[in-house]
Amino acid sequence: MTLRAVVRGVGHYLPERVVPNSEFEKTLDTSNEWIVSRSGIERRHFAAEGQTTSDLAVRASKAALAHAGMEADDLDAIIVATSTADLTFPSAATMVQSALGNTSGFAFDVQAVCAGFVYALANANALIVSGQAKTVLVIGAETFSRILDWTDRGTCVLFGDGAGALILSAEEGTGTNADRGILATDLNSDGRYRDILYVDGGVSTKSTGVLRMEGKEVFRHAVEKLAETADKALSKVGLHHEDIDWVVPHQANIRIIQATAKKLGVSMDKVVVTVQDHGNTSAASIPLALAVGVQNGQIKKGDLVVTEAIGGGLAWGSVVLRW
Ligand code: UT7
Repeated sequence: MTLRAVVRGVGHYLPERVVPNSEFEKTLDTSNEWIVSRSGIERRHFAAEGQTTSDLAVRASKAALAHAGMEADDLDAIIVATSTADLTFPSAATMVQSALGNTSGFAFDVQAVCAGFVYALANANALIVSGQAKTVLVIGAETFSRILDWTDRGTCVLFGDGAGALILSAEEGTGTNADRGILATDLNSDGRYRDILYVDGGVSTKSTGVLRMEGKEVFRHAVEKLAETADKALSKVGLHHEDIDWVVPHQANIRIIQATAKKLGVSMDKVVVTVQDHGNTSAASIPLALAVGVQNGQIKKGDLVVTEAIGGGLAWGSVVLRW
């Protein structure tokens, strides 16, 4: 018997306020044309004043619970992937737990920046296959608008806020690639590159700080590492690029998404793309894209889905799952 972490439900939430690229033209030396051609981003959502990361996470979680036909107390564990938790502590995950009214499970945050959701999925998988939890709610939620330097045109036009959530439950599989659920994971980080994407403040330095990025360098690493991690995860279970039904990549830049698809040997009509509408929502981008992909009728039960992401750390990784 092989225990598999199988998707039961998915949900998402985007804050009401939509900000088109043209808004930035009013205050910065930038243009809609530059932002679209260099990143593929056309608009993003920003949280309202007072609206926190856990507020977004709760909305996405309720949608996922409804989609799964489950109640909050069916959850054994809640994991929130975020770099923008409401408070230094407690975790955003415990805030979600209390807002949902769950008292029987345990909850914690995972911080691996834009790779956070992939890391959280790998953790949820480990909890399920080791028998420590039967049902896990995995959320990616961010309010990056709180850590942007509004005078830095090289970064503030790229990010957005939002949340996506997935519910995974233990199911018995056959141990083959035909099983539904998570089939393989691959996680990596290399702290030598911590200075090319970081926030220049934090608890221990007594400030919140703002995001700093050497975009070109991050871009170079992304194009090199994303296809590599996806290939590694696929090969762990004897799968190949021809087996992929959907690539659901981290949504940072359409040019990175296209270059990675090309390297993977997958055509763009098998890639879920939301970057034009969401911008880069860091750990929220993959679950948001999964939710949109399901809602649009792209991702269907039994499809082989590959997710991949890279972000600050650098941290990167991928998950192969059968929907
Ligand atoms: O989620 C975590 C992972 N993050 C990423 O994957 C982001 C990776 N990086 C990128 O997506 C791209 O590098 C960017 C979109 C950030 C930038 O695109 P680029 O093609 O690498 O442009 P660049 O940084 O080389 O900048 C080209 C030019 C520069 O001007 P000069 O030096 O050539 O005169 C920039 O100052 O574009 C200028 N520029 C802008 N111009 C208009 C930078 N930002 C802007 C802007 N509007 N918003």
